[in-house]
Amino acid sequence: MNVYDSDRMVDLLRPLGYSLSNSLEQADLVVVNTCHIREHASEKVYSDLGRLRDLKVERRAGGRDLTIAVAGCVAQAEGEEITRRQPAVDIVVGPQAYHRLPQLLAEAERRAAIRRAGRRLPGAGVLDTDFPAESKFDHLPSPKGVRTGSAFLSVQEGCDKFCTFCVVPYTRGAEYSRPAGAVLAEARQLVAAGAVEVVLLGQNVNAYHGEAMDGSVWSLARLIRAIAEIDGVARIRYMTSHPRDMDDALIAAHSELSQLMPYLHLPVQSGSNRILESMNRGHGREHFLRLVDRLRRVCPDIALSSDFIVGFPGEGDDEFDDTMRLIEEVRFASAFSFKYSRRPGTPGWSMTGQVSERIKSARLAALQTLVARQAHEFNRSKTDAVVPVLFSEMGRKPGQIVGKSPWLQSVYAYGPANLIGRIVKVRLAEGHANSLAGEIIAGQEATA
Ligand code: 5AD
Ligand code: SF4
Repeated sequence: MNVYDSDRMVDLLRPLGYSLSNSLEQADLVVVNTCHIREHASEKVYSDLGRLRDLKVERRAGGRDLTIAVAGCVAQAEGEEITRRQPAVDIVVGPQAYHRLPQLLAEAERRAAIRRAGRRLPGAGVLDTDFPAESKFDHLPSPKGVRTGSAFLSVQEGCDKFCTFCVVPYTRGAEYSRPAGAVLAEARQLVAAGAVEVVLLGQNVNAYHGEAMDGSVWSLARLIRAIAEIDGVARIRYMTSHPRDMDDALIAAHSELSQLMPYLHLPVQSGSNRILESMNRGHGREHFLRLVDRLRRVCPDIALSSDFIVGFPGEGDDEFDDTMRLIEEVRFASAFSFKYSRRPGTPGWSMTGQVSERIKSARLAALQTLVARQAHEFNRSKTDAVVPVLFSEMGRKPGQIVGKSPWLQSVYAYGPANLIGRIVKVRLAEGHANSLAGEIIAGQEATA
């Protein structure tokens, strides 16, 4: 989601004469787009801002300026605290207000001019952490040039589920679905700009319930069906989903639509019913396992991915074992896992039974070893298969080109740069821990 938002900020600033810079040294404006989900990500922002402050001081000594903006969920959650802790910051803008960046920049420039004239200013920086009544999506320019062939498309934002560990409902706000017509228009623009793959994004993407052109309400499955009808859309993905919102139509779409990739990121967080309850996830272990069964029945080669939190308050050895047993039962193609991070303002903050750092680290290591073994097994199972790969960039070795398999692993091969943005058939030869390698089949271009 932050990558999508960052791209949109670039689109928004381009008409003002900005272009994306490859180096900090050349930049006139730095936008730090932040994440607040865990403490580590959130604290890192301040060390980055300290370095930017030094650069700004250096610049000013040489008669040039540097504008510093902080965007994203840390901006939303901490607001004025950011300019208090780091007064070099000029702009603080939340994730629902960044379409106002041009006005905020103009205001920051006005303040800079006053300061240059030697006058004092009340307050520090320009702040916009509103949840405005108008949708930012109505104020964003249409996407430009998709070089990699794959494009993110935000269809849903925010969350009403209030898992007891999570800050998202507070930073991204209430659940909101973009109208289907606007999503379809953006999908068409992306295809015109070179996309062959569209990745539908949302914090709770499968809770999508957008108003359709005829006033009815579309589910995610219905939306995916309509996107699949757009000429030129060869691949569709969606993330991130919640087990509670995995409805029959969406499961069926995985067997009915060839464009829908055989991959699903479905966070379960824990395999223990007691912990799931205390996390307020609204479903148990059995519900998740049933979903996995049903998905595999309609799409036998589906790659399943998930998120896990270890060391949630009250997690003892038995509860952790339940999580490990669930992983063994499901066999994941990949997974993200995190030590529980206590977030201010969430119910988990004040729960009893907080788990020590030492135990969290040991559990995370055990879980990651198990998942890594499963990922490697999944990758090895694809050896000798011929699969369509969407190439997106050159690799580090000369002549190497990198893309994505239908199951979302990186695929390494050797081939010309003009394959970037295209889907090409590759015979897989090696299944590594985190990637696949193979040979491009001569003269082949797959359709899906
Ligand atoms: N501590 C650790 N991990 C968290 N996540 C969300 N909040 C926390 C937290 N407080 C993880 C969840 C979620 C992913 C995006 O981040 O696993 O699915
Ligand atoms: Fe956070 Fe996802 Fe739970 Fe919403 S459903 S509160 S985004 S973990």
